[in-house]
Amino acid sequence: AGNRTFTMIKPDAVAANNIGAITKMIEEAGFRIVAMKMTKLSAERAGQFYAVHKERPFYNDLCQYMSSGHIVAMILEKDNAIADFRKLIGATNPADAEEGTIRKLYATSIEANAVHGSDSDENAQIEGSFFFSDIEKF
Ligand code: CMP
Repeated sequence: AGNRTFTMIKPDAVAANNIGAITKMIEEAGFRIVAMKMTKLSAERAGQFYAVHKERPFYNDLCQYMSSGHIVAMILEKDNAIADFRKLIGATNPADAEEGTIRKLYATSIEANAVHGSDSDENAQIEGSFFFSDIEKF
C-alpha cells in the first residue's frame, strides 16, 4: 500500500557499478519496487523526459549525459513516497546533500547526481508511464 514515486539510477551510478548498493538503500528504507527496467535513452528521448527543463541552461548537457549510458528506471511504493524518497536521495547538488543520502554517497556532480526522484504525485505518474505500460505497473 501507500503511494508511488518514480526513480532512475542515472548513467554515472550505473557505470560505477552502484546499481546494487543504491537499490539496497531504497529497499532498506522501506520502498517496495513495483516495476524495474534497465534501458538506454536516446538524446531525443532524454529531452522528452526532461521537457520541463527545456529553457534551462543545463538542458542540452543533461540530454547528452542522460543518453551517455544505461539507466535503471523504477516505480517505488511506500507511504509518503514522494517526500520520503526525496529525503533519501538528498539535495540535487551532492555538495549540499546530507550525510547518508544516496547523492552524498554516490553522486559526483550536480549533473551526474546518481538518481532522479519525482517531485510530485502527478509527475510520478507521468514519469512512470514514460517507461512502463499499464500491465508492467502491478
Ligand atoms: P534531476 O533531479 O533528475 O532533475 C533535473 C536534472 O538536471 C538534475 O537532476 C541534474 O541531473 C541536472 N542538472 C544539471 N545542472 C543542474 C542545475 N544547475 N540545477 C538543477 N539540475 C541540474
